[in-house]
Amino acid sequence: MGGSSNDSMLVAASDAAGSQDMFNRELQTYRRIMGANLMFHREVYGILRGLLVEHAPASFRFLDIACGDASASAAMLRTMAIGNYVGIDLSKACLRLAAQELDGLPCPVELRCSDFAQAMEKWCEPVDVIWIGMSLHHLPAAGKAQLMHDARRALGGTGLFVISEPALFEEEDRTAWLARFSLLRHEWSAVSDEEFASMERHMLLADFPETVTRWLGMGEDAGFSHAEEIFMMPNKMGRVFRFWNWARIPGCEAGSSC
Ligand SMILES: C[S@@+](CC[C@H](N)C(=O)[O-])C[C@H]1O[C@@H](n2cnc3c(N)ncnc32)[C@H](O)[C@@H]1O
Repeated sequence: MGGSSNDSMLVAASDAAGSQDMFNRELQTYRRIMGANLMFHREVYGILRGLLVEHAPASFRFLDIACGDASASAAMLRTMAIGNYVGIDLSKACLRLAAQELDGLPCPVELRCSDFAQAMEKWCEPVDVIWIGMSLHHLPAAGKAQLMHDARRALGGTGLFVISEPALFEEEDRTAWLARFSLLRHEWSAVSDEEFASMERHMLLADFPETVTRWLGMGEDAGFSHAEEIFMMPNKMGRVFRFWNWARIPGCEAGSSC
């Protein structure tokens, strides 16, 4: 017997409510993970801050791709001479939190609800720094490469592109990387067994890390003259990379050690 349209509307509504519940649970878990510094946000954003202090121009324009709740970005940027902030994320719930976190930032703030790959394909506004924290790895290799091309084009040959992303050891495959994560259970006491299992399921479905060589190579192929790993997380699951063009960052000349 076929269901009435009211039945299907009820099913659709309960599906939507179910997936919203799931998303909210995952968001709460992610915020707890950040709070317990299990993904090394303190170190990563400390390093990003150092780069901005050293290399970003005065009143720099900052693009936060997949900003999430922007809590770590907001804490970092609050005391800096930032000129403009744009955050992009698909999740309205995250953007609502981001608006609260970024309130009081000493510059214009804009939050856009959009797919970042699509947004970057047609990006044509001036920007000095593009930052991606823990999000580019959701794309397949071709999508990552395209995003890097779009970032380089958006920076217009100047500026700084920084990413913090999961990374495979050379010769390691994704299955072995996922298995390495499972071994971290004892260090992740801030989350329940159920939350850890849901994190593993999410990673199995959505996380596609690259080796260091491939991350750096994609940046070079995108047209950045320089690509460098600048941090490895103590648990060795992820790394921070920066990409730029020689002689285009103030104080950074070809052949210098910056
Ligand atoms: C793990 S959180 C990262 C948040 C923050 N950048 C950080 O450093 O912790 C990943 C974020 O990426 C967003 N996201 C995933 N895929 C996206 C896409 N294609 N376009 C826009 N946002 C996306 C999710 O909504 C989520 O807020």
